Amino acid sequence: MRHRYILIACSLIAIVIICYKLTPSSEPSPETDELFKGTLSVGKSAPSLLIIKVFYEVLCPDSKYFIVKQLYPAWTKFKMMNVSHLTDIQLIPFGKAHAQMQKGEYTFECQHGEEECRLNRIHACLIDDKLITFDTKLEMIKCSISNPTKTSQCGLTECSKGNQLLYENGILQKADLGKIDFVPTITVNKSTQNQYELLKNFYGEIVSQLKTSL
Ligand SMILES: *[C@@H]1O[C@H](CO)[C@@H](O)[C@H](O)[C@H]1NC(C)=O
Ligand SMILES: *[C@@H]1O[C@H](CO)[C@@H](O)[C@H](O)[C@H]1NC(C)=O
Repeated sequence: MRHRYILIACSLIAIVIICYKLTPSSEPSPETDELFKGTLSVGKSAPSLLIIKVFYEVLCPDSKYFIVKQLYPAWTKFKMMNVSHLTDIQLIPFGKAHAQMQKGEYTFECQHGEEECRLNRIHACLIDDKLITFDTKLEMIKCSISNPTKTSQCGLTECSKGNQLLYENGILQKADLGKIDFVPTITVNKSTQNQYELLKNFYGEIVSQLKTSL
């Protein structure tokens, strides 16, 4: 008899636990924020999203400064403030390069030489990888741009589509900027306005743009 009660009690407890686990929590966790971000970037029901594009070059000191000292800390704060899902940050390595494609053969000339073409291509490969989260990508890009000779230790590698991806970055950049005057150039919803503020106080500038758009 006692055993039966214990069994029933245990079953009830189990059911309560299972139901609790299945109830979606209303608080968005950082993980759901990240998923939400994916939906938002293709999304219909976006509250107000800022599409931020960073046109950069791996061997450019100003790009390094921007990614390490501005973008990375800002992203950390966006997550802390629960606003990261209101931004869609796209990294586009190309900059002051020239690209040609003839009969399926790609040729590139990069501002800081051959090595920069190779590094930009490797970054393009990472950025294109759909299995890696934006968080991890940014971590890896910061690691590589801080010390480009250590790029492979940061986990970045060549990929078979590398040349094509780099070539496409050139097309994307040209479509948005025409001729690029300064590397890096940051656009917010396709606008290059407030470039100085974006480069020197990225967090503050984006927060102020988010506030006006909320
Ligand atoms: C930026 O562009 C996105 C996508 O087109 C749009 O949903 C959003 O409202 C825009 N935000 C601002 C502040 O203009
Ligand atoms: C962000 O959201 C988490 C839970 O989702 C909450 O605990 C935290 O207080 C929020 N932070 C801010 C700054 O609103």
